[in-house]
Amino acid sequence: MVHAIRIHDYGGPEALRWDEIEVGDPGPGQVRLRQTAVGLNYIDTYHRSGAYKLPQLPAIIGTEGAGVVEAVGPDVTTLKPGDRVGYAPLIGAYAESRLAPADRLIPLPSWIEDRQAAAMLLQGMTAQFLLRSTYAVQPGDTILVQAAAGGVGQILCQWAKHLGATVIGTVSNDEKAELARAAGCDHPIVYTRENFVNRVKDLTDGQGVPVVYDGVGKTTFMDSLDCLRPRGFMVLFGAASGPVPPLDLQVLAAKGSLYVTRPTLFSYVSKRDDLMASAADLFEVVHTGGVTINVGQTFALRDAAEAHRALESRATTGSTVLLP
Ligand SMILES: NC(=O)c1ccc[n+]([C@@H]2O[C@H](COP(=O)([O-])OP(=O)(O)OC[C@H]3O[C@@H](n4cnc5c(N)ncnc54)[C@H](OP(=O)(O)O)[C@@H]3O)[C@@H](O)[C@H]2O)c1
Repeated sequence: MVHAIRIHDYGGPEALRWDEIEVGDPGPGQVRLRQTAVGLNYIDTYHRSGAYKLPQLPAIIGTEGAGVVEAVGPDVTTLKPGDRVGYAPLIGAYAESRLAPADRLIPLPSWIEDRQAAAMLLQGMTAQFLLRSTYAVQPGDTILVQAAAGGVGQILCQWAKHLGATVIGTVSNDEKAELARAAGCDHPIVYTRENFVNRVKDLTDGQGVPVVYDGVGKTTFMDSLDCLRPRGFMVLFGAASGPVPPLDLQVLAAKGSLYVTRPTLFSYVSKRDDLMASAADLFEVVHTGGVTINVGQTFALRDAAEAHRALESRATTGSTVLLP
């Protein structure tokens, strides 16, 4: 028996329970992992609260982790006991040990530590597809990143800077402004006291930006549209402040033939080749120093409720790792 954090009903952080579970032996195509580090992501709070429904309850939440292969299923030839791997996105991460499909696991190079892998795979591959595929950032672009001191935010800032962009970012306080600046954000805006639309217009000579990366959602979405130049891309990739209400598409015409997309990591890495290509691109930019992964805080896995409270009260910065 091992321990895992499960929910039996949707709810607040108190719904997270430290349960004993049996993992069992890996079946065909599976491996059993002893987990050494688990990534905390905003999507974990949507799964916990029921904003995103799970197929069944009770359920082990969490979608990112790293560890060591303990046993492999009968037909698994690509991995062997002792191999170090990481994964994202794959539900069932908040556990000391788990079964996982071998074809969703990413072998870890020796220079990546387990905590670093658990901190960066989901948020880093998200930054990868947002900056390289959804809207391919070009040298000389000036872009806007909402919640620039967060997990995805700090990686977006660094990587966009590395690609030659000028980065405008929003944050809720001065301490986060300094963190965003250290992550390459040229113009941090404290959006709790300053109108970010006016500031973006000032910084772009009234033109607006070609792309907004917005993981905040409800409270920023309409203002984000006003930061775009004509034919700009509104990339809504999350809802930390709540879901965006239905949108009258005519608004996109009135504001200048805008594009809106609501992408998810899973649709960009559902094929193994795409998963491995995204991870390789991320590993390269981290290995060469273009992006540094900032683990702002760690919690014991059994204290996942405390970690969720911190994340939802905007008290975390950078990435967060849960330790089994
Ligand atoms: N589409 C995808 O595939 C994908 C993948 C990964 C993540 N995401 C999304 O990306 C976003 C960021 O994820 P993350 O894990 O890196 O989290 P995070 O950015 O570290 O944390 C969320 C941040 O959002 C900001 N925020 C603004 N209003 C908020 C509110 N009312 N409540 C809570 N936070 C608020 C806070 O920053 P300030 O205090 O500076 O405002 C907070 O620190 C989330 O929306 C997540 O769902 C999407």
